[in-house]
Amino acid sequence: MSNYIMSNYYLKLFYVLLLLFLPAAESILGFNNTAEIKCIERERQALLNFKHGLVGARDMLSTWRDDEKNRDCCKWKGIQCDHQTGHVTILRLRGSDTQYLSGAVNITSLFPLQNIQHLDLSNNYFIGSHIPELMSSLTNLRYLNLFCSFFGGSIPTQLGSLTCLRYLDLSNNNLDGKIPSQLGNLSQLRHLGLSGNSFSGALPFQVGNLPYLQTLTLGGDFDVKPKDACRLVV
Ligand SMILES: *[C@@H]1O[C@H](CO)[C@@H](O)[C@H](O)[C@H]1NC(C)=O
Ligand SMILES: *[C@@H]1O[C@H](CO)[C@@H](O)[C@H](O)[C@H]1NC(C)=O
Ligand SMILES: *[C@@H]1O[C@H](CO)[C@@H](O)[C@H](O)[C@H]1NC(C)=O
Repeated sequence: MSNYIMSNYYLKLFYVLLLLFLPAAESILGFNNTAEIKCIERERQALLNFKHGLVGARDMLSTWRDDEKNRDCCKWKGIQCDHQTGHVTILRLRGSDTQYLSGAVNITSLFPLQNIQHLDLSNNYFIGSHIPELMSSLTNLRYLNLFCSFFGGSIPTQLGSLTCLRYLDLSNNNLDGKIPSQLGNLSQLRHLGLSGNSFSGALPFQVGNLPYLQTLTLGGDFDVKPKDACRLVV
């Protein structure tokens, strides 16, 4: 064998060995090219539980799948996670003319998402659903939008403990009962939408006195968009 062929042979061998040991070398040397953040299993299960029982979810939740290819819930449609911790921080499932979710929504199933800051379930058709008292356990919420989504029942007084809230829209639902004075504890609130419901009694003065409130919608008939404003054809 000539020197040339020999050196070519060793060169090839070198490359083969390099390819074989590169992954091992990477982890030994601490390279981590799988550093992309993956969702937390407990939160993934919560989202799958939340999806369970919703109908018409085919388009909006088509990426929410429990298979190998779609394991990372941070990549699911409508979800954003914290880049460092992997916790879900945003869940945005706003319906539209053509796509919306229906069925009894179980907000309770979202409780494992303890770091969620932004929850938008507006413009859906959750008839027969209510706002759970334990909603107050999602203490990091800054934005909660349930506009036009057919929630019924009353506003739980416990909502007053979501003191990070800056935006709360409950307008155009089927809510009744009294507006809880505890909403006056939401001292960071900028926007409060209550119109288009069937509340009894007046707006508690504590709510009227919120220091940073910029917009407040109230009332059932004038002031407000009628139920038709919900872009769903029911
Ligand atoms: C790479 O980083 C991810 C996310 O930070 C971590 O979960 C994984 O364990 C790391 N892998 C290695 C081999 O260090
Ligand atoms: C809602 O979800 C929670 C937690 O996943 C579960 O314990 C509860 O039974 C569910 N409620 C309904 C009405 O399905
Ligand atoms: C919340 O509001 C109610 C009624 O306005 C009040 O009695 C209560 O002390 C408040 N709670 C907190 C923690 O500020």
